[in-house]
Amino acid sequence: MSDLTSGIVTTPLTDVATPLLAIAVPQGSTVPPSLTALDRTTGGVLARAITSGDFKGKRDEALLLYPAEAGKAQRLLLVGLGKAAEVTRTSVRRAAAVAAKRARALGTKQLACAVAAEARNGTTARDVAQAIVEGAAQGAWAFTELKATPPADEPRAEVEAVAIVCEPRDTTEAAAGQRLGDAIAAGHRLTRYLQVLPGNVCTPAYLADQAKRLAGAYGFTLTVLDRSAIQKEGMGALLAVAQGSEQQPRFIVLEHRGGGDAAPVVLVGKGVTFDSGGISIKPAQNMEDMKFDMSGAAAVLGTFEVLGRLKPKINVVGLIPATENLPSGTALKPGDVIKSLAGKTIEIINTDAEGRLILCDALSYARRFKPAAVLDAATLTGAVVVALGHAAIGLMGTDEALLNEVREAGERAGERCWPLPLWDEYRDLLKSDVADVKNSGGRGAGTIAGGWFLREFADGYPWAHLDIAGTAYTDSEAPYQTKGPTAVGVRLFSEFILKRAGA
Ligand code: BES
Ligand code: MN
Ligand code: ZN
Repeated sequence: MSDLTSGIVTTPLTDVATPLLAIAVPQGSTVPPSLTALDRTTGGVLARAITSGDFKGKRDEALLLYPAEAGKAQRLLLVGLGKAAEVTRTSVRRAAAVAAKRARALGTKQLACAVAAEARNGTTARDVAQAIVEGAAQGAWAFTELKATPPADEPRAEVEAVAIVCEPRDTTEAAAGQRLGDAIAAGHRLTRYLQVLPGNVCTPAYLADQAKRLAGAYGFTLTVLDRSAIQKEGMGALLAVAQGSEQQPRFIVLEHRGGGDAAPVVLVGKGVTFDSGGISIKPAQNMEDMKFDMSGAAAVLGTFEVLGRLKPKINVVGLIPATENLPSGTALKPGDVIKSLAGKTIEIINTDAEGRLILCDALSYARRFKPAAVLDAATLTGAVVVALGHAAIGLMGTDEALLNEVREAGERAGERCWPLPLWDEYRDLLKSDVADVKNSGGRGAGTIAGGWFLREFADGYPWAHLDIAGTAYTDSEAPYQTKGPTAVGVRLFSEFILKRAGA
């Protein structure tokens, strides 16, 4: 898991010495004026590609060109941004990811990224630089640690460095964006790494070790509860999920103190290191994907990597309930009634609705921090994929202002959220005959039922719930993304916190 080093280059495009110069260009049929000098020095190769219509500049389109004469740049890569008037930092991030993914395939260890001036559409030099670094880190990512024999057809070379090409007068702004991008890229890298690790490696204890490493590196306060401490605390719901597994659960508390006595933002991440469903066991098909059921926890840890690097002036608490969900002779059963930390009793209808159980205790635990806001991220329901597919996080909560703030952070981050209602009518889904609440409703409104269950426990603070089951990992290889974990949540959380910190 090596770092991608970033740098800033202010020489004209014609003079950028690099094995691969990627230029993000808007849709169109003529060479943008800002590239005419480069076109001239490269023998008109840009004009031939663009005016012929071979390269149209559509989103994700990429064309690799070899200049007639060996110039400073050995290769040029045109990357489409789509319509200039629609360009945002998300399009820039995506174009940089396309470029870095191509660099990886080519085996070039370095690349330089520029955005044609005509395509900026008002994005600041700071945002462009940040997005280039984030996107390049995203596109260059690969996980090879567990391959004992390198596959012959896959390049092994890592992309080591990305250069941001900008105007000399934009250097200060670009450097500010680069600093944010570097930190967020590092958080991204950690999150993806933890996500992709298999369940036999990334156990609850492993997550706790990662929290310990972060605390040691950056000076966070760390508290880790093991099974007996969780029991003493009264977290009956977390304990109930963990009781079927040989692996001990952990409850992890990380604290970044940068804001004096101010009320903290609390981030909660679902840390089910493997979800078999328990006694309500899942079908075997794709069950291996349930190693990703700790993606919320990974996003919280990745965000602390960002906090450690940037040290924003704000207080942030990270809470991670971590456990496996397995069937065994000691496992939780449908029909069982358990008692949560809040004192509410829960009837278990389906042991596969375990995420809400471990989260409800974390949400109750959060109260002791008197939070300014609590955000939880969880791969909570398959139903969110039915509702929103893989393009949006399902967003629920009780505080309109907070929900708007989260949505805006998601827009800036390129991690979009879409709201689902927690109307009173839906509370009926969770009525139990024997307990205060049951852990699963019927067939309909599965994501809302999950959200409503959490709402029962998210008491006394503004709260937002992010169902990331559709966005945490992807089965499809795309020009801008690699199959596997996406680190969703890291950028949204970071943007949210940095904005609140005024950074
Ligand atoms: N971890 C799953 C949700 C999930 C599904 C994540 C698909 C990623 C992809 C969660 O614990 C779960 O099993 N939820 C159940 C809830 C149901 C039993 C009420 C589900 O979605 O089927
Ligand atoms: Mn489950
Ligand atoms: Zn789960």
